[in-house]
Amino acid sequence: LVGSEMCIRDRNMTKPLLKQRRVLRKESEEVPMMIIAPSILSADFGAMRSQVQEAEQAGCRLLHVDVMDGHFVPNITMGPDMVAMLSQAVNVPLDVHLMIEEPERFLSVFYEAGLQRKGSILTVHYEACPHIHRVISQIHRLGDGKVLAGCALNPGTPVSVLRDLLPDLDLVLIMTVDPGFGGQAAIECCLDKVRQVKEMADKLGQTVLIEVDGGIKLDNLERVQDADIVVMGSAVFNERGAGANLQAIQKKLENLAL
Ligand code: DX5
Ligand code: ZN
Repeated sequence: LVGSEMCIRDRNMTKPLLKQRRVLRKESEEVPMMIIAPSILSADFGAMRSQVQEAEQAGCRLLHVDVMDGHFVPNITMGPDMVAMLSQAVNVPLDVHLMIEEPERFLSVFYEAGLQRKGSILTVHYEACPHIHRVISQIHRLGDGKVLAGCALNPGTPVSVLRDLLPDLDLVLIMTVDPGFGGQAAIECCLDKVRQVKEMADKLGQTVLIEVDGGIKLDNLERVQDADIVVMGSAVFNERGAGANLQAIQKKLENLAL
């Protein structure tokens, strides 16, 4: 890599972050509400287009896409072609969660496939990147910094590893299950990591979006109230239907004032 490519992202590029947080929320909201990102992993793959359109009609503002390679995690799911189809099917930005080894090989492919929309997120795993800082910088360079760069932490990784990375991250994704499958129960002690990241960021004077993923349902939503984005797979895409589920979740958020 030439010198300029090795540079840490310009600090000023982190400044529009609060504005980007707004991008994910409705302009009219005075108190910005938590955003629910339905994970299509639990959707009916045979009817994906109509499933995501139903979610969009019910008010979904961000769609979570779980990409698995059978190496980093013990499951194989979807790739850039699915991302391209989704970006055609809905108007909301996509939140691509890469659970793959060597994610740096695929960043631009996913970006080109459907992450040009404002508010799109591309997240890699801390555990998959020996040179995480370089990979984050590569995400920031996609489309002149238009995509938000996220770093995900497995349940076994302490939040303290983020300390030196926070200035260069747009988003931290806290996994509350070991990644690989939808429908698992949240690991109790991991729920508290959301608050830990918030506290760390506040203490260091950093602004970062916090996302939580794995086993989140109506009954533990309150436990992750410091999250900006909450991923929900099996709680949204199930036999009751994404529309009805999203309405119930929205009601709960209003009751809890989250
Ligand atoms: C798990 C994925 C999650 C999953 C969440 O490896 O990263 O996004 O789809 O599904 P639920 O909400 O069912 O745990
Ligand atoms: Zn995920």
